[in-house]
Amino acid sequence: MREQLENILSRVQAELSAIQDTGALEQLRVKVMGKKGEFTAILRGMGQIPADQRPAMGQMVNEVRNKLESAIEEARIRLGLIEKEARLKQEAIDVTLPGTSRCRGSLHPMSIVLDDLLDIFTGMGFEVVEGPEVEYDHYNFELLNLPKHHPARDAQDTFYIDDNIVLRTHTSPVQARIMTTRKPPIRIVCPGRVYRADEVDATHSPVFHQIEGLVIDEDISIGDLKGTLDTFAHRLYGPGVTTRFRPSFFPFTEPSAEVDLTCANCDGAGCKMCKGTGWIEVLGSGMVNPKVLEMCGIDSKKYTGFAFGMGIERLAILRYNIPDMRYLYENDLRFLKQFR
Ligand code: DAH
Repeated sequence: MREQLENILSRVQAELSAIQDTGALEQLRVKVMGKKGEFTAILRGMGQIPADQRPAMGQMVNEVRNKLESAIEEARIRLGLIEKEARLKQEAIDVTLPGTSRCRGSLHPMSIVLDDLLDIFTGMGFEVVEGPEVEYDHYNFELLNLPKHHPARDAQDTFYIDDNIVLRTHTSPVQARIMTTRKPPIRIVCPGRVYRADEVDATHSPVFHQIEGLVIDEDISIGDLKGTLDTFAHRLYGPGVTTRFRPSFFPFTEPSAEVDLTCANCDGAGCKMCKGTGWIEVLGSGMVNPKVLEMCGIDSKKYTGFAFGMGIERLAILRYNIPDMRYLYENDLRFLKQFR
């Protein structure tokens, strides 16, 4: 028995020094010290030892048990440390490594121009208001003095959802919505998407964007309209740009004007972009037709107002000299990356 004890002690010590991880250590511990373990089996043999040898044997058994237990415990601490270190090493982040660079996006040219427009108009005291893209014929046409069968409707042929509902052909219906729900003074701009049954080409798209302006108050004159649009033109394209008002017709304004800006490409000298005229048409405007004011419930004896509407694509095309409107919609990164 003494030999068995010495054997097991030296074998376990040898095995412990070779063990690499705490899993194997636990297996070894069970194999030796567990209920069915080798050391436990030796203990069972104690009964057969003659009584006079028992105290000495008992003492030896205890010594060996203590040695085994402390050797196993020591190994557990040693392996635990090694494993912890390995884990830390594996989880460590090398902050000196170069990071994975992300592809940085940029604003779409339309967003840049729209942001600038909103900046310019809110700077002049306008409030930004939005309206629905699926609109009642009533707001899109009727309240703007375009009754059913009015020939001016043809210029804005659109997508009808049913007899009374259309995809709005311009942002002007937002004017009517605001006039019917608010009292003057009114000073709003309304950006948004509009729809027309147009074929796609270099200057047309069935879906495009406009921004509308409306001011209604006492004593608003065409001078206020002119001052507002001059300020807009200077702030968007620079102080060298002048406006030119040409008489025109819109059913919802009287008088009406189309407004041209000096061609920023040639400073008014005449080039391909302005077809040699030195001027570029950018918007429609006018004094709000008193009939429209009355239809919307505003006293046209007390109040006057002006309105204007322009295409945002057109402004972007002019500012960045974009040769074809379709570039704005195709999401070609080679195009979009130029607007960083
Ligand atoms: N709604 C017009 C269009 O889409 C543009 C326009 C012209 C808007 C004159 C106005 C205006 O507010 O007063 O062609």
